[in-house]
Amino acid sequence: MQIIHSVQAMQATASMLREQSASIGCIPTMGALHDGHASLITASSQENTATVVSIFVNPTQFGPHEDYQRYPRTFDADVALAERHGATHVFAPSADDMYPKGFETTINVGRLSTILEGERRPGHFDGVATVVAKLFQAMLPHRAYFGQKDFQQTLVIKRMVADLNIPVQVKIQPTVREASGLAMSSRNRYLSAEERTIAASIYQALEAGKAIVERGSRVRTEIEQAMHGQLADFDVDYAVAATAEALSTPEQFSPDEQIVLLIAARLGTTRLIDNTTI
Ligand code: PAJ
Repeated sequence: MQIIHSVQAMQATASMLREQSASIGCIPTMGALHDGHASLITASSQENTATVVSIFVNPTQFGPHEDYQRYPRTFDADVALAERHGATHVFAPSADDMYPKGFETTINVGRLSTILEGERRPGHFDGVATVVAKLFQAMLPHRAYFGQKDFQQTLVIKRMVADLNIPVQVKIQPTVREASGLAMSSRNRYLSAEERTIAASIYQALEAGKAIVERGSRVRTEIEQAMHGQLADFDVDYAVAATAEALSTPEQFSPDEQIVLLIAARLGTTRLIDNTTI
């Protein structure tokens, strides 16, 4: 497995792979890799001749009071995990290489980036969209793999790819969970043992909301009340039911509409997000 540190070297390698008619799969990450990331790497290595994992803690998607400084950085373990799951290349650029002096351009994906996560984390999805576009320009992938864990992020990226005619096939993989139901996340490292047990209630809340729908209700407030009922231990940013296609929030969902339940909640100093589609 090859480790590449500069944008220029990554582009040269990707161009060479393309000339050899290799198909390139990419997995953009911020490192601190776990089994959720591993599932994306495995999916790519099954479908492509080359699999490039990028590891870059992107400063522009963190707010001024967020966890950019303390975000876990575990590069050597990440490289080992990527290699074990079939990555052929790791791309780990520096912040100076990604954002050199004079950098000015931002991609803004409209309405989708202003609601829910975007409302609580202003500028977050501009940072995500811009860095993902830049990573695509460096890794030149045919396919890119993202996790459903970050549901709104998948919609933002699919919108950007469609709107800007980016020739990359976006593949969404299911959320990998711990036995308790807790969605795997790099930020789970912040949780104490006790908090980790409590954190599983987020999954219980999604299941409670889902049960209401499965019993025949399409009324948004009924579904949301069931979720809130499981979240007493948290400082809840949102626990909402929305249309999976556009994240709109009608009072009542039509029978053929796919619903997504989305939760963002704080436990101590840790902010957790999760979702499920129905
Ligand atoms: P990061 O949080 O490192 O996640 C990288 C990818 O792994 C994302 O597509 C995310 O949805 C996926 N992922 C995380 N936890 C998962 C889980 N439990 N199951 C399945 N997939 C999971 O998301 C980002 O980084 C950044 O915003 C990024 C896209 C790299 C841009 O900086």
